[in-house]
Amino acid sequence: MTTPRTPLIAGNWKMNGLQGDGRALASAVADFLKSQGAANFEMLVCPPFTLISAVHDALAGSGVKLGAQDCSTAAKGAHTGDISTDMLADAGCTYVLVGHSERRTDHRETDELVNAKAVAAHTSGLNAVICIGETEAERDGGKTLDVVKSQIAGSVPGSATAANTVVAYEPVWAIGTGRTPTIDEVQDVHAFIRSELAAKLGQDVADGIRLLYGGSMNPGNASELLALGDVDGGLIGGASLKPEDFAAIATSCPA
Ligand code: PGA
Repeated sequence: MTTPRTPLIAGNWKMNGLQGDGRALASAVADFLKSQGAANFEMLVCPPFTLISAVHDALAGSGVKLGAQDCSTAAKGAHTGDISTDMLADAGCTYVLVGHSERRTDHRETDELVNAKAVAAHTSGLNAVICIGETEAERDGGKTLDVVKSQIAGSVPGSATAANTVVAYEPVWAIGTGRTPTIDEVQDVHAFIRSELAAKLGQDVADGIRLLYGGSMNPGNASELLALGDVDGGLIGGASLKPEDFAAIATSCPA
């Protein structure tokens, strides 16, 4: 039995935006989704922590979902500078990105830590968007599938279900570079990810989990990418900061 997977168009704002910009961008995304009526896709924005409150207010009643870009593994206590998943849920988030390659690189996050963050998200009732993807050297060495396989084994917890987990495949070398894998490569890696998830979590769960492609998705390449059978949406960085581009990507979802 195949579970229908509603495409998810997710914006990762990264470390961008002050209060005024964040409010304006969120309002534009909210207005766009409201203008669509019964859309055949869902939208998510992940602003920096400082904008979560303002973006939450700007999105009210629009249906656009709110997520954070990272979380702590701890529930509360002496962890200066960290933000717990209960705090994110309390602030109105329903999603959190975990294991983005910039966190893995800048903060040396391991698969084990990413796994624990996903478990923390699930414990607080949040959806975890677990990010994986190979570096350019790994790709050049023909290691893409090995890397993805070991990241799934290490980063995706046994608590993952179709209702609480999204997996984002983001080749590190495609992020912010304007370069993307070929369409065939994207489909092949996504199909491989789904088969690895099936081996780990069972076919039904794997069939329901949404797999996002991320890395230089833009209005020019979105239609082709989103039409692929195992691509269920996008995780979009740069283009999500331009409301008209983010909207154009969303309307590229197959009907
Ligand atoms: P990009 O970023 O769309 O700017 O390549 C994607 C991401 O890092 O999530």
